[in-house]
Formats: sequence, C-alpha cells, structure tokens
Amino acid sequence: MTDDQKYRAAEAAMAEVTSGMRLGLGTGSTAKHFVDIVGRAVQNGLDVICIPTSEVTAAQARGLGIPLTDLETTPELDLTVDGADELGPGLALIKGGGGALLREKIVAAASKRMIVIADQSKRVEVLGRYPLPIEVNHFGLGATTAAIGAVMADFNAEGELRRRLKADGTPFVTDGGHAILDAFFGRIPQPEALAKALVDIPGVVEHGLFIGLCQRAYVAGPAGVDVLDG
Ligand code: 5RP
Repeated sequence: MTDDQKYRAAEAAMAEVTSGMRLGLGTGSTAKHFVDIVGRAVQNGLDVICIPTSEVTAAQARGLGIPLTDLETTPELDLTVDGADELGPGLALIKGGGGALLREKIVAAASKRMIVIADQSKRVEVLGRYPLPIEVNHFGLGATTAAIGAVMADFNAEGELRRRLKADGTPFVTDGGHAILDAFFGRIPQPEALAKALVDIPGVVEHGLFIGLCQRAYVAGPAGVDVLDG
C-alpha cells in the first residue's frame, strides 16, 4: 500500500518534467520509482540530462540508459525530485535516511526547484520524530560527537545520538567517505536554529535538515495525491 503511494507520488511529479530539462535524481525507495519512470520516458524519447544524488541512484540510472552529467559540467539544474523522511510545516524536511544527505543537499541547492515525493506517513506537524542524520568527518569523531551531544542538550533532545551501522554491524560509510550519526530529538520546533547550531560544529559535514530548499511536495494517500506548495 505504502509502496503504491510512493509510486503514485513519483508519477504525479513526472508531470513537471519536460524535454530539455537538467534533472536531479533523488535517493531512496520513493525516488527509485521516479528514476524508473524517467528511465521509461527516456526510452520513449524524453530528452533530459540528469545528476544522481548517490552511487546507488547513479547505477540505477545508468542501467536504464538515462544520460548523466555532473555539477562540474552542469552547475545548475532545472529540477530535483527526491524523497524525504519527514515533511513538516513550510516544506521543511528531514532527509538522509538512506545516508545520501550531502549529495542530496548539494544537488537540491543547485536546482531552480526541488520537489519532494512521499507517501502520507511522512507528513508531520513538528519535525524530529525521525532521527536526524548528521554526516561527520572521521577525524575527531569523538570530539564532534560530544559537541553534537551538547547541542542536543541545548535543544532538549529526548533521545540519544547513535553512530549508524550497517545491517552486518559494521559502521555505515557515506558515498563521501564519512560517518553518519543519528540524533534522536523527538521534537524539533526550531529547525532553523538547530541547523545553524549544527553547521557551526567543526567536523559536521552536513545535516539532514532541508529548510527553504523544497518548493513543492506530492504526497500520496489512499484518496489520491495532494500537492503542497511552500
Ligand atoms: C536518502 C533520503 C531518502 O529520500 C529518504 O530516506 C526517504 O526514503 P524513502 O523514499 O525510501 O522512504 O533522504 O538519503
């Protein structure tokens, strides 16, 4: 059911894609549907050039014959379509559940527009129930972890800070070669202030709060797809 909603959100966003566009391709199970749909359209003659936000998405896109470029050759994109872990007021997002937040944020910021596609379970009144992914450099990991812990205390976090592990118990490493710490806030009523506090910590490469980056969301539920504009 949820996967069907993810597909329908992806299909709705496809209506915004036209030939000639430079497209950012997101990461995750919802974005995967979108990439499949773009792939079919390319096979039927759609002329787009794309930048993937992860190695996983790049492999999928290559397999479908989607033409790829990079931000050196194509520093500005027309549109990025990506999933989200939480979608809050003002289309503020938590992203990075798949560990791709750094490339996702760089690609979204290089795009004239970002559209989120999601099933309705992602909508929240207050961000923070989903653990906030924070990408950190391996150098100084202990000191960076302590500094993030202090920020969590300042922002009344309800839970702990955990290093992300893979299913086999070994540390998760991002496409950029960094670690991920998952911060269990419970509630983030002031995402802008938290975002600023996190980027001020040396060793924090990026965090999963996407604020002011997303202009539209297609959110699918049992009754259809809602369009939310920021
Ligand atoms: C990956 C992401 C994903 O977009 C986010 O985790 C949502 O994934 P899914 O569509 O599988 O629920 O941010 O880093």
